[in-house]
Amino acid sequence: MIRVGIVGATGYAGAELVRLIAGHPDVSLTVLTSRQYAGEPFEKIYPAMKGVIGLDCELYDKDSICSKADVIFLALPHKLPMAFVPDLLKNGKKVIDLSADFRFSDPAKYEAAYQPHTSKDLLSQSVYGLSEVFTDQIKNADLVGNPGCYPTSVILPLYPLLKSDLIDVTTLIADSKSGASGAGRSLSLTTHICEITESFKAYKVTGHRHKPEMDEVLAAVAGKPVDITFIPHLLPMSRGMESTIYANLKKRVTPDEIQNCLAEFYSDCPFIRLYDHGIATDTANVRGTNFCDIGFVLEKGKDRIVMMSVIDNLVKGAAGQAVQNMNIMLGLDESAGLNAVPYPL
Ligand SMILES: NC(=O)c1ccc[n+]([C@@H]2O[C@H](COP(=O)([O-])OP(=O)(O)OC[C@H]3O[C@@H](n4cnc5c(N)ncnc54)[C@H](OP(=O)(O)O)[C@@H]3O)[C@@H](O)[C@H]2O)c1
Repeated sequence: MIRVGIVGATGYAGAELVRLIAGHPDVSLTVLTSRQYAGEPFEKIYPAMKGVIGLDCELYDKDSICSKADVIFLALPHKLPMAFVPDLLKNGKKVIDLSADFRFSDPAKYEAAYQPHTSKDLLSQSVYGLSEVFTDQIKNADLVGNPGCYPTSVILPLYPLLKSDLIDVTTLIADSKSGASGAGRSLSLTTHICEITESFKAYKVTGHRHKPEMDEVLAAVAGKPVDITFIPHLLPMSRGMESTIYANLKKRVTPDEIQNCLAEFYSDCPFIRLYDHGIATDTANVRGTNFCDIGFVLEKGKDRIVMMSVIDNLVKGAAGQAVQNMNIMLGLDESAGLNAVPYPL
């Protein structure tokens, strides 16, 4: 059995990884780390896991985790993974980092959005873990930079249309909304229940860190610089993410042409579900699953497309895509551990 360690297991993304790995048929959980809860049973922190997860949390120790795990997920705030990853790779581990530290191929872009990078040399060997798009590179990777949740929801619908040169990239606008778990488990006034219920607002309107990540990946497929207009919003719910994306088309097309372009690109992709023209997507339909549902509408009389995509930010937007990447890296069935049937309501 392949052994899995999760660093930062008590955060929202880490706990979701615990849930998914616990139900995985081919791997087993061996290490869970946390500073605040070191020595405590995981099931005490998340009582839903009572009788399901028998492990205690432990402090991160490189030698200990390397002796007990073959694959290591890092579900830590950015800046920490860049310090941990070099040693893990030297010890022959497969590493999937959920932070932004290994998502960028251009260190200058990372440093402009985050902070100085202390493991820049590893950026050329890390693979951007958008599972459906970079599958072949992920197969051979030891280090995957798992995508951000907003970039996942924005890039997946756009990528096939950019690849087919159907869209004018100078006109891209993404209007995105996330549930509050996207901000992590730490207490903060901005995600306090009284601040977000009966409320809906945009935030970081002058620049969110996920924008340069989207720009870098979209520019590579478009073959020219991309400067998307991206405005995130906070939804009064715990999990779920929706992106409504507007773009001008380079030529007038039929709904069938768009449908075929998406269907062809995602033909072997079990987690992409395509909706018919004019049918809106809904976060409720992907809750707790690794699906990304994609819909679109062509505006009558205009050369403009509006795309809609929904994911669960903690699953396809974080832990689920990370498990999908692990499956691809290990040559397992891509869907292993990710086959939960969606809630009907
Ligand atoms: N939430 C999402 O929807 C989402 C989506 C995509 C990607 N991500 C990424 O996933 C990562 C985790 O996000 P999250 O939302 O799960 O955050 P979180 O709920 O705040 O959890 C962070 C985890 O890291 C641990 N940690 C914090 N500081 C640490 C330190 N100095 N040393 C060791 N461990 C430390 C925390 O536990 P202790 O404090 O007990 O150590 C906790 O387990 C982030 O990089 C985030 O950008 C999150």
